[in-house]
Amino acid sequence: MGDDARDDGHDGVGAALLAVRGITRRFGDRTVLAGVDLDVAAGEAVGVVGPNGSGKSTLLRCIVGADEADAGTSVLAGRTVDEREPAIRRDLAVVMDDTDFFPDLSVVEHLDLVARAHAQHDAEEVVNGVLDEVGLTEVSGQLPSTLSSGQRRRLALASAFVRPRRLLVLDEPEARLDVDGVEWLGARLLSEKAAGSAVLLVSHDPALVERVCDRVVRLGPPTDD
Ligand SMILES: Nc1ncnc2c1ncn2[C@@H]1O[C@H](COP(=O)(O)OP(=O)(O)OP(=O)(O)O)[C@@H](O)[C@H]1O
Ligand SMILES: [Mg+2]
Repeated sequence: MGDDARDDGHDGVGAALLAVRGITRRFGDRTVLAGVDLDVAAGEAVGVVGPNGSGKSTLLRCIVGADEADAGTSVLAGRTVDEREPAIRRDLAVVMDDTDFFPDLSVVEHLDLVARAHAQHDAEEVVNGVLDEVGLTEVSGQLPSTLSSGQRRRLALASAFVRPRRLLVLDEPEARLDVDGVEWLGARLLSEKAAGSAVLLVSHDPALVERVCDRVVRLGPPTDD
């Protein structure tokens, strides 16, 4: 898609890979999400922005099935999203802000396990390539607990890039990355789109959103009933 694709049309992109309709989430008397709709097509990136507490992470959790919305649907490639469904897990790579790692597996062992569990072809080659790309080759033998916070973030991102995926869902992927890391991330997300993946990106970095996203969904502050 060209740079002029910042509109609501999907001309030339086809039907949405991800179709989210009417997602509503309440916590007690507070309505955090009131009927959110969004579509993400293959080869397209959609940004979700808004102030702290506006419901961005809650929206992503409802979309990927990690939280249950009070109303609404999230449909990926024609299937209602259910993280227990193998076909959904095959297509969906998620990096939230609370990624856990196996405490007793090294960086390379962790990535190798993720790649093989998701039936990645040429797992060893893909893992080595991604390790190099995210700058973790030198620490690939270390346990996650011994990494710096930015290196752990890079490992979380690497876990999504070593496996097959059709939709990449990212919650503040730029957090804790250095300047070069954010530059790399932007280029990586553009190549994801070019390869035909769909990207749903929550971010507090306006430059990253501007660079990567074709459209932006803006959430407002939560309201009390
Ligand atoms: N399990 C929960 N129980 C009660 N309230 C919750 C729960 N999860 C989220 N909330 C509330 O929902 C609102 C939205 O939270 P959420 O984490 O989605 O915000 P966010 O937009 O991701 O914010 P940030 O930019 O800080 O990451 C907040 O007011 C939060 O307190
Ligand atoms: Mg959040």
